[in-house]
Amino acid sequence: MYKKIMTIKVGNLAIKLYEDKRVYRPLSVSKLMANCITLRGGEHVLDLGTGSGFLAIVASKLGAGSCVATDISPDAVAIARANAELNAVYNIDVRQGNLYEPVENERFDLIISNPPMTPSPRHLKPETYGGPDGRIVLDAVLKGAKDHLKPGGRLLIPTISIIGIDVTARMLTQLGMSYRCVGYAVVPFSRLLKNLEDYIKKLPNASIIYDRQIRPCWTAVVFEARLLP
Ligand SMILES: C[S@@+](CC[C@H](N)C(=O)[O-])C[C@H]1O[C@@H](n2cnc3c(N)ncnc32)[C@H](O)[C@@H]1O
Repeated sequence: MYKKIMTIKVGNLAIKLYEDKRVYRPLSVSKLMANCITLRGGEHVLDLGTGSGFLAIVASKLGAGSCVATDISPDAVAIARANAELNAVYNIDVRQGNLYEPVENERFDLIISNPPMTPSPRHLKPETYGGPDGRIVLDAVLKGAKDHLKPGGRLLIPTISIIGIDVTARMLTQLGMSYRCVGYAVVPFSRLLKNLEDYIKKLPNASIIYDRQIRPCWTAVVFEARLLP
């Protein structure tokens, strides 16, 4: 059914993924997040917005006891199931649905999510569109986390500077969570973001940095957050 396979290295792991143009191909933030996943072994993990299943597969390979991987896209759900099998990982339960709906009454030791965060005045593909300010899905993931974490559970969540890293930090505090930064990257704008540069510059929480070649770049941080007792 799927023709091409790509391989992504994460530490000593080589994750194989079928390619499908309809599903998000893991990019810089996905890889940054993959390198930030730590597990004690046997933990119950949620990967919300799993896309290809990449982060769920990494979590499983790193010793998750069980993993639920969800996505709003039926194409993503289909390929995530196929990719789990391709990597000989059999403890991932892939479910379709919006945000936390597929895990309504469940709690996890670790929630991972790399939500769509591209701010845009017009609708983009759901895999990247984060609403006019880029924060619609991210904020919903943050707000729902405390109802789906076990005591002592962790949330691993990225934020990019074009949607406000400090806004996420403040929200985590307001939600009663402590956090630390466990990953950081600087990434040049894609063609899509270059086309949106004038719009992004006007967003109140956005910040853009320019590299030595004067290319516009965004910074990404990965927060590991915990509920305060
Ligand atoms: C940026 S991609 C990340 C995919 C994958 N986690 C990775 O890092 O490679 C965001 C994913 O979230 C999914 N998504 C978008 N809105 C969603 C929602 N409301 N509920 C669940 N999944 C959603 C998209 O279909 C897409 O697969």
